[in-house]
Amino acid sequence: MKLVRTENYAEMSLEAGKIIVDRVRSNPNLTLGLATGSTPKGVYDYLIHNHKENGTTYTNAKSVNLDEYIGLSAQDPNSYHYFMNQNLFCHLDINENHTHIPNGAANLLEQECLRYEQLIKNLGGVDLQLLGIGQNGHIGFNEPGTAFSSRTHIVTLAQNTREANSRFFNSLEKVPTHAITMGIASILDSKEILLLVSGERKAEALNKFVNGEISEQFPASALKYHKNVTVIADKDALKYI
Ligand code: F6R
Repeated sequence: MKLVRTENYAEMSLEAGKIIVDRVRSNPNLTLGLATGSTPKGVYDYLIHNHKENGTTYTNAKSVNLDEYIGLSAQDPNSYHYFMNQNLFCHLDINENHTHIPNGAANLLEQECLRYEQLIKNLGGVDLQLLGIGQNGHIGFNEPGTAFSSRTHIVTLAQNTREANSRFFNSLEKVPTHAITMGIASILDSKEILLLVSGERKAEALNKFVNGEISEQFPASALKYHKNVTVIADKDALKYI
């Protein structure tokens, strides 16, 4: 595991953005694994800026997102579909049909999980997976206690995850209780992983990740089994390290 120390959120985003652009330029057909939330927004801004200024093209690239809330349609402003369109896809030349996100509004959710897992396989797997981390150590929406052998599945969101994400909703009650997420094993199949960690509220989680044991009670610790992980963290997140 490689740890890149940065001064702040902007520098963390820049370092991650440069790596992604490098991989897209050397393999224009790649499949990117993408995340939502506050952490990757700066990286997405960098990719948009770089696309406009330097012409990095995504016409042959594909993307798969980690997760989606159950019960929200793609048009719902709080859905991850909406987030990705607004914050990234609309601003790049990526083909909309090449961007994939689990369908949280599917009627048959178990089947949707199987479809998504198969889709990733059909794409040849994820070349570069971008990850954030929850304060409880979750990656994707794999909450503490998730089996490391898990594939795309339905989860009940932890109360602290719903509380953390309520900042995007009008109230806690509006935050969905369930989500579809790629599993830990699905994530570990990625050829390369970039984990971004920013801010003091993630400092404990980062310390546990770097110095703690590997345990299903701390989902991110599974990343220690992976051979090609780069952690890019800012000074505030590195407070205890
Ligand atoms: C988002 C995701 C989550 C977030 C994590 C951190 O697609 O899978 O694991 O990465 O909850 O969220 P932020 O970045 O908002 O602190």
